[in-house]
Amino acid sequence: MITVNTIDELLKATSTFKGSVGFVPTMGALHEGHLSLIRQARKENDSVVVSIFVNPTQFLEGEDLDAYPRKEEADAKICELAGVDILFMPTAQMMYEKDELSIIAPAIRGFILEGTKRPGHFDGMLQIVMKLLNLIAYNKPSAFRAYFGKKDAQQLALITQMVKNYFINVQIVPCDIVRDKDGLALSSRNLYLSKEERVRALSLSRSLKRATELVMQKEFDTSTIITEMKKVLTEVEVEYVVLVNREFKPIEQVELGNTIILVAAKVGTTRLIDNLWI
Ligand code: PAJ
Repeated sequence: MITVNTIDELLKATSTFKGSVGFVPTMGALHEGHLSLIRQARKENDSVVVSIFVNPTQFLEGEDLDAYPRKEEADAKICELAGVDILFMPTAQMMYEKDELSIIAPAIRGFILEGTKRPGHFDGMLQIVMKLLNLIAYNKPSAFRAYFGKKDAQQLALITQMVKNYFINVQIVPCDIVRDKDGLALSSRNLYLSKEERVRALSLSRSLKRATELVMQKEFDTSTIITEMKKVLTEVEVEYVVLVNREFKPIEQVELGNTIILVAAKVGTTRLIDNLWI
């Protein structure tokens, strides 16, 4: 594996690639969730690039940009062991100019749920993902795949839409959510949780499990499902519980194979999201 810190080095390194390229963008503090994306990229491509960049434009004022966990050495070890070819770790100065073109998330899909709770977050996220995709595609690989987790379902939907709207030549590969044994969806932000908060955080995945039970009993009415889920979400501060279809339109009845149940809640000062695709 080679670690590159500048754009020139990255382009030089990718110019030697032959065949397909799999790309996994991350913000670091890598865990098994990230690793599952990297493993899938490794399996499906000739070369694998991972980026680690805590992207300032997707953090709002007062969010955890400075506190965001940084574990560069451990992350590099993990990538190396997973068979990554290039680890790209740029600085913000390299990725941004002062007065830039911006990307605005679409009005409906971009401004519900996470979009309302974190206005501007998706604009910055799309901006950096566009830049990174263009950089990895620069040397025209024979096939180009980029891997994203379903954990960030709305992010995934918006990136898929951006790729379509801007005709970017990349295949977006959605990857399943990886959970701890007790059900907690893995997230770099879990590192903020105290022992006691971590126990309370389990109610997010438990509420999704409750929803699965209801659907298995053929309860398809979304307001009933939401009411039941909220009964489980007692020890956290719920931000939203919704059922949407794969286009992110709220639905009144579960459509099997086309439904995502999303939950966001605060546990102490840590904001967590989780979801279930059914
Ligand atoms: P980050 O939170 O580091 O996540 C990087 C990728 O790992 C995302 O595609 C995310 O959905 C996926 N991921 C995180 N936890 C997961 C889990 N438990 N199971 C499966 N996949 C998981 O998402 C970002 O970074 C940034 O917004 C980024 C796309 C890199 C742009 O800055």
